[in-house]
Amino acid sequence: MPLRTLTAGESHGPVVLTILEGMPAGLPLAPEDINPDLARRQGLGPAGKPHPGASPRMKLEHDTAELLSGVMAGQTIGAPIAVQVRNLDHTKWQGRAVAPMTIPRPGHADLTGALKYGYDDLRQSLERASARETTARVAAGAIARKLLAEFGIRVGSYVTEIGGVEADLSAFPLTERLDAALRSEMNCPSPEGTEAMRARVEAIIRARDTLGGVFEVVALGLPPGLGSHVHYDRRLTGRLAGALLSIHAMKGVEIGSAFANARLPGTQVHDEIIRDDAGSLTRRTNRAGGLEGGITTGQPLVLRVAMKPISTTLNPLASVDLATGAPAATDYERSDFCAVPRAGVVGEAMVCLVLADALLEKLGGDSLVELKPRFAALRRASLDDVPQLGQPRVWWP
Ligand SMILES: Cc1cc2nc3c(=O)[nH]c(=O)nc-3n(C[C@H](O)[C@H](O)[C@H](O)COP(=O)(O)O)c2cc1C
Repeated sequence: MPLRTLTAGESHGPVVLTILEGMPAGLPLAPEDINPDLARRQGLGPAGKPHPGASPRMKLEHDTAELLSGVMAGQTIGAPIAVQVRNLDHTKWQGRAVAPMTIPRPGHADLTGALKYGYDDLRQSLERASARETTARVAAGAIARKLLAEFGIRVGSYVTEIGGVEADLSAFPLTERLDAALRSEMNCPSPEGTEAMRARVEAIIRARDTLGGVFEVVALGLPPGLGSHVHYDRRLTGRLAGALLSIHAMKGVEIGSAFANARLPGTQVHDEIIRDDAGSLTRRTNRAGGLEGGITTGQPLVLRVAMKPISTTLNPLASVDLATGAPAATDYERSDFCAVPRAGVVGEAMVCLVLADALLEKLGGDSLVELKPRFAALRRASLDDVPQLGQPRVWWP
């Protein structure tokens, strides 16, 4: 698989870093291509203000990308691309003696990480397990997004549900959902949904509690034929679901209307194949969410992701002080109350990385100049290109 990403950095260390390897040469790239996604990850809504429910840290950080390698004269050169984002909060921690953290918080990697690595201070788990790491993913994802955009592929997301408050999006076509979400302070396409979600988050803050929710990531303009049915680790279905579930606090992924489909007979689920007016193959519906046999169908990719409620709660949870063995209540540290509106952009980043990887796999080539005509040929492929079928053959003599 051509594209590889590595991230490094701790929540309050000096920087978070990304290395993206395998991008073709000739892609125009500047920090300005990355910074808007970093701002969205910070929860800076349309008015440049943090989303309701976002941690106060988001006011402290001004995430900006520094391109350290792989780009010359504003274009990628095919070499590994290194991106650095500084943690402005680091200066508050530098040189400061910090009391050990001994009470693990349920829902975090505090206890599991400490047991696994033998840490004597739970902060050693917290620092790397923190979703601050998603900054590095978003930086890599923005570069993958730039590549996809060269081929007319758009990836976006929107929030459908927060803490049980569900937006009715039935009247919104997919493109409109993506556009309208960018104008909403909750990343929700519907104004009524935005208002109801904001009220729900404000109420949970007053209740000193936290919320999770559901967002959808959509990719438009995909060609058919990305991914493969031939082996488990080539199926795009698993690659996408795995990438989304690798994000902190994501606990469920649904492809298309998978759970509703599971309750219906097959004739009411599978997307029937027809020819459009131009003679091309198309489908009546898209209940499969744009994937069949682990391969893109050419229809919109629709992925739904469930995020658990934020684990750091103002009202304490029961735990045990590992220093004494006695029962203890969790301590609170500055935190999001609800990060669902910020999480969608991380989902987009992971989907961009998987799709860019699958596109490069399909097209081959080392430069944009090589890739462009190959993509045009892929787009032109139609019924005429399907090999002649219908001749009987002996497959296994
Ligand atoms: C964008 C984003 C922001 C998050 N912000 C916080 C936060 O402020 N406080 C918190 O306790 N958890 C936050 N989380 C979730 C934790 O990182 C997550 O609950 C923790 O890593 C454990 O989840 P896991 O079991 O999936 O690893 C955030 C997650 C994401 C994706």
